[in-house]
Amino acid sequence: NHEAGRRSKIVLVGFMGTGKSTVSRLLAEQLGYARFDTDEEIERSQGKRVAELFAEIGEAGFRDLESGMIQELLSRKEPAIIATGGGAVLRESNREAMLGGSLVVALKASAEQIIARVQSDSSRPLLQGDVAANVNRIMEQRKHAYDFAHLVLDTTSLNVHAVCATILQTRE
Ligand code: S3P
Repeated sequence: NHEAGRRSKIVLVGFMGTGKSTVSRLLAEQLGYARFDTDEEIERSQGKRVAELFAEIGEAGFRDLESGMIQELLSRKEPAIIATGGGAVLRESNREAMLGGSLVVALKASAEQIIARVQSDSSRPLLQGDVAANVNRIMEQRKHAYDFAHLVLDTTSLNVHAVCATILQTRE
Protein backbone atom coordinates (compact mmCIF):
# COMPACT_ATOMS: atom_id res chain seq x y z
CA ASN A 1 0.00 0.00 0.00
CA HIS A 2 1.89 2.93 -1.35
CA GLU A 3 -0.03 5.64 0.41
CA ALA A 4 0.48 4.09 3.83
CA GLY A 5 4.07 3.28 3.00
CA ARG A 6 5.59 6.70 3.53
CA ARG A 7 3.98 7.43 6.84
CA SER A 8 6.26 8.04 9.76
CA LYS A 9 4.70 5.61 12.19
CA ILE A 10 4.62 1.84 12.03
CA VAL A 11 2.05 0.13 14.24
CA LEU A 12 2.55 -3.56 14.99
CA VAL A 13 -0.54 -5.60 15.78
CA GLY A 14 -1.02 -9.33 16.24
CA PHE A 15 -1.82 -12.11 18.64
CA MET A 16 0.13 -12.52 21.87
CA GLY A 17 3.51 -14.15 21.26
CA THR A 18 3.82 -13.31 17.56
CA GLY A 19 6.97 -11.23 18.16
CA LYS A 20 5.66 -7.64 18.14
CA SER A 21 8.00 -6.48 20.93
CA THR A 22 11.10 -8.05 19.42
CA VAL A 23 10.34 -6.79 15.91
CA SER A 24 9.52 -3.30 17.22
CA ARG A 25 12.92 -3.08 18.97
CA LEU A 26 14.88 -4.00 15.86
CA LEU A 27 12.79 -1.76 13.58
CA ALA A 28 13.24 1.21 15.91
CA GLU A 29 16.97 0.57 16.03
CA GLN A 30 17.27 0.26 12.25
CA LEU A 31 15.23 3.40 11.55
CA GLY A 32 16.44 5.46 14.50
CA TYR A 33 12.82 5.96 15.57
CA ALA A 34 11.38 6.07 19.06
CA ARG A 35 9.71 2.85 20.19
CA PHE A 36 6.60 2.51 22.31
CA ASP A 37 4.79 -0.55 23.60
CA THR A 38 1.20 0.08 24.70
CA ASP A 39 1.37 -2.46 27.56
CA GLU A 40 4.59 -0.91 28.91
CA GLU A 41 3.21 2.63 28.64
CA ILE A 42 0.00 1.63 30.44
CA GLU A 43 2.03 -0.08 33.18
CA ARG A 44 4.19 3.00 33.55
CA SER A 45 1.30 5.45 33.67
CA GLN A 46 -0.75 3.33 36.08
CA GLY A 47 2.18 2.07 38.16
CA LYS A 48 0.75 -1.47 37.87
CA ARG A 49 1.33 -4.60 35.84
CA VAL A 50 -1.17 -5.63 33.16
CA ALA A 51 -2.18 -8.67 35.24
CA GLU A 52 -2.92 -6.45 38.27
CA LEU A 53 -5.00 -4.12 36.13
CA PHE A 54 -7.06 -7.04 34.76
CA ALA A 55 -7.65 -8.21 38.35
CA GLU A 56 -8.58 -4.76 39.65
CA ILE A 57 -10.56 -3.11 36.84
CA GLY A 58 -11.36 -6.07 34.60
CA GLU A 59 -10.68 -6.55 30.93
CA ALA A 60 -13.08 -3.72 29.98
CA GLY A 61 -11.26 -1.30 32.26
CA PHE A 62 -7.95 -2.35 30.76
CA ARG A 63 -9.35 -1.88 27.23
CA ASP A 64 -10.35 1.68 28.10
CA LEU A 65 -6.81 2.46 29.27
CA GLU A 66 -5.41 0.75 26.18
CA SER A 67 -7.63 2.74 23.81
CA GLY A 68 -6.65 5.99 25.51
CA MET A 69 -2.97 5.07 25.24
CA ILE A 70 -3.27 4.19 21.55
CA GLN A 71 -4.94 7.52 20.76
CA GLU A 72 -2.29 9.36 22.78
CA LEU A 73 0.68 7.61 21.14
CA LEU A 74 -0.78 8.05 17.64
CA SER A 75 -1.38 11.74 18.22
CA ARG A 76 2.32 12.45 18.80
CA LYS A 77 4.17 13.96 15.88
CA GLU A 78 7.50 12.16 16.13
CA PRO A 79 8.24 9.15 13.91
CA ALA A 80 7.75 6.01 15.98
CA ILE A 81 7.35 2.26 16.07
CA ILE A 82 4.35 1.33 18.21
CA ALA A 83 3.89 -2.24 19.43
CA THR A 84 0.34 -2.89 20.63
CA GLY A 85 -1.19 -5.49 22.92
CA GLY A 86 -2.87 -8.40 21.15
CA GLY A 87 -6.36 -7.13 21.98
CA ALA A 88 -5.81 -3.53 20.87
CA VAL A 89 -7.48 -4.27 17.52
CA LEU A 90 -10.77 -5.40 19.05
CA ARG A 91 -12.26 -1.91 19.06
CA GLU A 92 -13.10 -0.44 15.68
CA SER A 93 -12.16 3.06 16.85
CA ASN A 94 -8.63 1.81 17.54
CA ARG A 95 -8.37 0.12 14.14
CA GLU A 96 -9.52 3.31 12.44
CA ALA A 97 -7.07 5.46 14.39
CA MET A 98 -4.20 3.11 13.45
CA LEU A 99 -5.10 3.06 9.75
CA GLY A 100 -5.55 6.81 9.71
CA GLY A 101 -1.93 7.83 9.86
CA SER A 102 0.36 4.82 10.10
CA LEU A 103 1.60 1.76 8.31
CA VAL A 104 -0.19 -1.06 10.16
CA VAL A 105 1.62 -4.41 10.15
CA ALA A 106 0.03 -7.58 11.53
CA LEU A 107 2.30 -10.40 12.68
CA LYS A 108 0.94 -13.95 12.56
CA ALA A 109 2.36 -17.23 13.81
CA SER A 110 1.16 -20.81 14.18
CA ALA A 111 -0.69 -21.78 17.36
CA GLU A 112 2.11 -24.26 18.13
CA GLN A 113 4.78 -21.59 18.00
CA ILE A 114 2.71 -19.12 20.00
CA ILE A 115 2.05 -21.72 22.70
CA ALA A 116 5.76 -22.54 22.88
CA ARG A 117 6.62 -18.85 23.26
CA VAL A 118 4.05 -17.94 25.91
CA GLN A 119 3.97 -21.24 27.81
CA SER A 120 5.97 -20.25 30.86
CA ASP A 121 5.00 -16.57 30.95
CA SER A 122 2.71 -15.53 33.77
CA SER A 123 2.27 -11.92 32.60
CA ARG A 124 -0.69 -12.56 30.29
CA PRO A 125 -3.91 -12.86 32.30
CA LEU A 126 -6.00 -14.20 29.40
CA LEU A 127 -3.76 -17.25 29.06
CA GLN A 128 -3.45 -18.36 32.68
CA GLY A 129 -4.44 -21.96 33.42
CA ASP A 130 -4.50 -24.23 30.39
CA VAL A 131 -2.30 -22.08 28.13
CA ALA A 132 -2.68 -24.21 25.00
CA ALA A 133 -6.48 -24.39 25.30
CA ASN A 134 -6.69 -20.65 25.92
CA VAL A 135 -4.46 -19.81 22.95
CA ASN A 136 -6.53 -22.04 20.67
CA ARG A 137 -9.83 -20.61 21.90
CA ILE A 138 -8.81 -16.94 21.67
CA MET A 139 -7.10 -17.46 18.29
CA GLU A 140 -10.37 -18.90 16.99
CA GLN A 141 -12.31 -15.90 18.36
CA ARG A 142 -9.85 -13.50 16.74
CA LYS A 143 -9.41 -15.41 13.49
CA HIS A 144 -9.97 -12.32 11.34
CA ALA A 145 -9.21 -9.60 13.90
CA TYR A 146 -5.83 -8.71 12.39
CA ASP A 147 -6.80 -8.83 8.70
CA PHE A 148 -7.45 -5.08 8.53
CA ALA A 149 -3.70 -4.33 8.54
CA HIS A 150 -1.94 -2.95 5.45
CA LEU A 151 0.49 -5.86 5.61
CA VAL A 152 -0.01 -9.29 7.20
CA LEU A 153 3.18 -11.25 7.81
CA ASP A 154 3.40 -14.86 8.94
CA THR A 155 6.49 -14.99 11.14
CA THR A 156 6.33 -18.73 11.87
CA SER A 157 9.34 -19.53 9.69
CA LEU A 158 10.93 -16.06 9.52
CA ASN A 159 13.56 -14.65 11.82
CA VAL A 160 13.28 -11.14 13.18
CA HIS A 161 15.72 -9.72 10.60
CA ALA A 162 13.69 -11.10 7.70
CA VAL A 163 10.50 -9.73 9.24
CA CYS A 164 12.00 -6.24 9.55
CA ALA A 165 13.43 -6.33 6.02
CA THR A 166 10.02 -7.22 4.61
CA ILE A 167 8.33 -4.43 6.55
CA LEU A 168 10.90 -1.88 5.39
CA GLN A 169 10.53 -3.04 1.76
CA THR A 170 6.76 -2.52 1.97
CA ARG A 171 7.43 0.99 3.08
CA GLU A 172 9.48 1.99 0.03
C1 S3P B 1 -3.70 -9.14 25.39
C2 S3P B 1 -2.38 -9.11 24.99
C3 S3P B 1 -1.30 -8.65 25.87
C4 S3P B 1 -1.82 -7.65 26.90
C5 S3P B 1 -2.98 -8.24 27.65
C6 S3P B 1 -4.14 -8.65 26.73
C7 S3P B 1 -4.71 -9.66 24.45
O1 S3P B 1 -0.26 -8.04 25.09
O2 S3P B 1 -2.20 -6.45 26.29
O3 S3P B 1 -2.51 -9.35 28.38
O4 S3P B 1 -5.92 -9.46 24.70
O5 S3P B 1 -4.33 -10.27 23.42
P1 S3P B 1 0.78 -8.91 24.17
O6 S3P B 1 0.11 -9.11 22.83
O7 S3P B 1 1.96 -8.02 24.06
O8 S3P B 1 1.04 -10.17 24.89
